Amino acid sequence: MLLAPMAGLTHTALRRLLTELGGVGLLSTEMLSARALPHERPDHPFLARTPSESPLSWQLLVARPEEVGPAVEVLDRWGTEVLDLNLGCPAPQARRRGGGAFLAADLPRTRAVVREIRRRWAGPLSAKFRLGPGPDEAPVQDLVRLLGDEGADWITVHARFRGEPYGRPARWDWIARVKVWASVPVVGNGDVASPEDVGRMMAQTGCDAVMIGRAAARTPWIFRRAAVQVFHRGSLGPNPDPARVYLRYAELLAESFDERRALGRFKEFTHHFAENYAFGHLLASSVQASSCFEQAVARARRFLEENGPQCSTPACL
Ligand SMILES: Cc1cc2nc3c(=O)[nH]c(=O)nc-3n(C[C@H](O)[C@H](O)[C@H](O)COP(=O)(O)O)c2cc1C
Repeated sequence: MLLAPMAGLTHTALRRLLTELGGVGLLSTEMLSARALPHERPDHPFLARTPSESPLSWQLLVARPEEVGPAVEVLDRWGTEVLDLNLGCPAPQARRRGGGAFLAADLPRTRAVVREIRRRWAGPLSAKFRLGPGPDEAPVQDLVRLLGDEGADWITVHARFRGEPYGRPARWDWIARVKVWASVPVVGNGDVASPEDVGRMMAQTGCDAVMIGRAAARTPWIFRRAAVQVFHRGSLGPNPDPARVYLRYAELLAESFDERRALGRFKEFTHHFAENYAFGHLLASSVQASSCFEQAVARARRFLEENGPQCSTPACL
């Protein structure tokens, strides 16, 4: 199972938490701009990484082949294990620069970028994309073939059309189609919320592996539980105590970031984690309204003392 790259979430603190809980096969960075990377220092908070966070995939947002060389050179120097090309980001900043989903929409430019990465990077290379703008199969089929032909070692499909919101269920049937078209292994992604979903996605789509995004922040123990339940068919120990997991995350944030950045990342994570609690909206709103990290953690502690998790929901597992 792979951790999905998520801006604002998959930084060193969450990755350390997931490593401590176990079960993740491949961790990921947040999306990194290939253009900016050569000007950053490896100890920049966005790039910080401890030896325990391994193996780690570094996701690059690239718009043009000229950006590839300098970015790959620094990644090589920092000891990158896996490189992932972002072909799915539909956000305005990707649109402005012509990266992410907007690179994927331009096949000749995508080919030039992937070819340039492959020319300069001998290590494992993957590419993560959304489906095309609508139900036409041809552009997706062409993209999938191109990625295999140009030397991607595997591909990840986030099974939503380019502009589709998260409220709409992921289109798992498209993962099955991509699997038929692909010459390389396929990782399925979208709406995996429980260990059972991991098994279901693999059975329904034939995908080779599963990538988990938001559920990694809602239930960081999902990887270990799915590893035991789906792949080893073993018996599960007791559920981890969500309160302890949450406070450990706060501790890791404090170790990894200055107070302002820790607060932002605590808020981002709490938005997802609060779903474990019947009155989670109160937790989310009180953390959201906090003006400093210490205050946010104190409010979270108070909430945890007064509220148990709602274990009947799938989110609580
Ligand atoms: C807050 C947030 C940030 C994201 N940032 C990225 C990103 O930087 N790169 C990327 O390829 N996908 C990004 N995604 C998409 C996820 O990687 C994943 O494809 C999506 O959340 C669907 O998986 P899920 O249903 O398991 O969450 C992001 C998603 C969320 C919710």
